[in-house]
Amino acid sequence: KIAYVNGSFVPHSEAKVSVFDRGFLFADGIYEVAAVLEGKLIDNASHLARLKRSVGEIELALPETLERIEEIQKELVKRNDLVNGMVYLEVTRGADKGRDFAFPKADVKPTLVMFTSEKDIINAPSAKTGINVITVPDIRWERRDIKSVALLAQVLAKQAAAAAGAGEAWMIEDGKVTEGGSSSSFIVTQDDVIVTRQNGNEILPGCTRKAVVKLAEERQLRIEERSFTVEEALAAKEAFITSASVFVQGVVAIDGKKVGNGKVGPMTDRLREIYVEFAR
Ligand code: PDD
Repeated sequence: KIAYVNGSFVPHSEAKVSVFDRGFLFADGIYEVAAVLEGKLIDNASHLARLKRSVGEIELALPETLERIEEIQKELVKRNDLVNGMVYLEVTRGADKGRDFAFPKADVKPTLVMFTSEKDIINAPSAKTGINVITVPDIRWERRDIKSVALLAQVLAKQAAAAAGAGEAWMIEDGKVTEGGSSSSFIVTQDDVIVTRQNGNEILPGCTRKAVVKLAEERQLRIEERSFTVEEALAAKEAFITSASVFVQGVVAIDGKKVGNGKVGPMTDRLREIYVEFAR
């Protein structure tokens, strides 16, 4: 398998960055994950737009243009013969000589790395069965709209989920669900209103979320962007998550309590179909 590191395509065994890299020392970097379906990048313009916004918010200048970054993503897909999976990309503020918190001088070039992973998102068994989620307190910082590589809170949340045999952790703040450890959260109310939290500093503006909201609106489905509680989710007909790595995936239980009839619901199935059609 081939990775991209600062201008070179190299085998994974040779894909290395400095111990002085600020991504390693300070989590001073931004990442993106875009899905690949039948060899094609899915909704990549949306991911690149978010990348541009994220780096802007932390005053980090991309070392390549967005056009060049997309070329590299595509080249990497080709070199790995990737059919279905994901392209991960990360840009950090580079490697300075030591460990200074403040930004390095302009001559320090940002680090840009990318690699691919295989995943059959379409035929993943959990697409049919749905997943269980657990709830955990949202202990993250106040700028969750920035797709930063500082993911320790999500690591702990998703480890707790894994240990409990659940597929995702929903993070709770002020009694409301913010989002999943690596996904956006949705419910479908008893009167078929699709509800997902409004964008803001409290959540990452999901690219899949954005596409699903737009696709639902185009089909005259009722959608409300507002926060919701776990109690409301448990009283809902359906719940689901969205992300580049799962597309649309049903949630059938929260903290061991059934959502709806405990099966993936018809609205979730429909939105998944609509999204897959959009992605293809
Ligand atoms: N996670 N919320 C959080 C906190 C996320 O980390 C992600 C994505 C999403 C969904 O965003 P999108 O639809 O653009 O993938 C929401 C990626 C997949 C990850 O960390 O692996």
